[in-house]
Amino acid sequence: MALTCVVFFLLFFLSFACILGLNDSKIKIPAVHAFGDSGIDAGNNQYIPNARAKFNFRPYGIDFLGGLPTGRATNGKTVVDFIAESAGLPLPPPMLSLSKAQLKSTLTGVNYASSASGIQSMPHKTAKLFVKVLSMKDQIKLFKKTTRSIKHGFESTESFALHLSKSLFFINTGTNDIGVYWELDLSPSFYNVEDYASNVSKMFHKHLTNLYRLGARRFLVNNVSPLGCRPSYRHRIPHNISCVEDVNRRVATFNDLFPKVLTKLEKSLKGSTFILCDLYKLFEEVHAQPQTYGFTNVVDSCCIDVNGNQTRECAPGRTPCIDRGTHAFFDPFHSSQSMHKLWFQRCVKNII
Ligand SMILES: *[C@@H]1O[C@H](CO)[C@@H](O)[C@H](O)[C@H]1NC(C)=O
Ligand SMILES: *[C@@H]1O[C@H](CO)[C@@H](O)[C@H](O)[C@H]1NC(C)=O
Ligand SMILES: *[C@@H]1O[C@H](CO)[C@@H](O)[C@H](O)[C@H]1NC(C)=O
Ligand SMILES: *[C@@H]1O[C@H](CO)[C@@H](O)[C@H](O)[C@H]1NC(C)=O
Repeated sequence: MALTCVVFFLLFFLSFACILGLNDSKIKIPAVHAFGDSGIDAGNNQYIPNARAKFNFRPYGIDFLGGLPTGRATNGKTVVDFIAESAGLPLPPPMLSLSKAQLKSTLTGVNYASSASGIQSMPHKTAKLFVKVLSMKDQIKLFKKTTRSIKHGFESTESFALHLSKSLFFINTGTNDIGVYWELDLSPSFYNVEDYASNVSKMFHKHLTNLYRLGARRFLVNNVSPLGCRPSYRHRIPHNISCVEDVNRRVATFNDLFPKVLTKLEKSLKGSTFILCDLYKLFEEVHAQPQTYGFTNVVDSCCIDVNGNQTRECAPGRTPCIDRGTHAFFDPFHSSQSMHKLWFQRCVKNII
């Protein structure tokens, strides 16, 4: 009996240590380049005239260095910041914040992510609501600009290619394609969600191939989290069980295509590695067993929106919850810093 307990305790502790990443060795990468949406945007939208989704007001950034808003859609650091930190690199600055001279000397990676962006360019009604932001295509164009700008800092074409090949390309997109774009613009014009998902995944394939052509080799690609479990959906759409199942099914249909796309890319693009971070599964686990991951609340927004019904971004200047460290969501759409840290710990194991 006693021995069983010890064994159980050890197993429990070891798995816990794994979850918390206590055994993480340092990541060895010379640069991190981040592409995607508000999950990881570090402030690009602030530099786009009239764009919405800028997250440049309190309480966003309340737990960031200095406690000031940065354009990140969370209270502190994002998964990308944690990766950079762990690799001993500066936090990748937003591309649009960099002057020509700054870009030239930024060899450790840039953040191209833009809130409200997607794999596709923004469709009509969505664009009317949000104003044009950087689509994946725009972001890749900007990366091309970076390569042109920094390549002179390397001894040879070969050493530059080697640098790029060792750099990490962190991709977090698709959420808005299968979420807001589908809902506002596209659902009536497609036969069904399967065709739509397939269409979008083909575009995704193309974008990732283009990044490869520009020198990227190591890709960490996140799938889409269960949007139906976000406070924004749970408070807007009637549902019987804890999450909005219809929305999650739609996301799952899209996510099902990810492994196939990535395998195909890895097979056809010589020297490439595409690692999938199963964000959907991570969220499922967190929802099923919050305590195991150190959360006390995985269903509510920490900050308060203007209507107080968890359907909008944080209301400017309103004090958010105090127990932010144990909330999975900071606003009704976006993960808290604690959730970002868990995300880092889960996926980083795959990139060491
Ligand atoms: C920690 O890392 C070492 C070396 O990589 C490995 O042998 C060991 O199994 C790891 N321990 C845990 C708990 O993951
Ligand atoms: C994908 O959908 C767009 C409309 O948004 C359409 O123009 C395009 O032809 C479709 N592509 C494929 C491969 O089905
Ligand atoms: C949230 O509150 C606003 C204003 O009180 C209201 O217009 C909106 O319908 C509410 N949304 C939901 C889902 O209750
Ligand atoms: C909730 O459950 C009831 C009874 O089974 C069913 O009639 C209703 O359609 C369900 N509603 C939703 C939103 O799933």
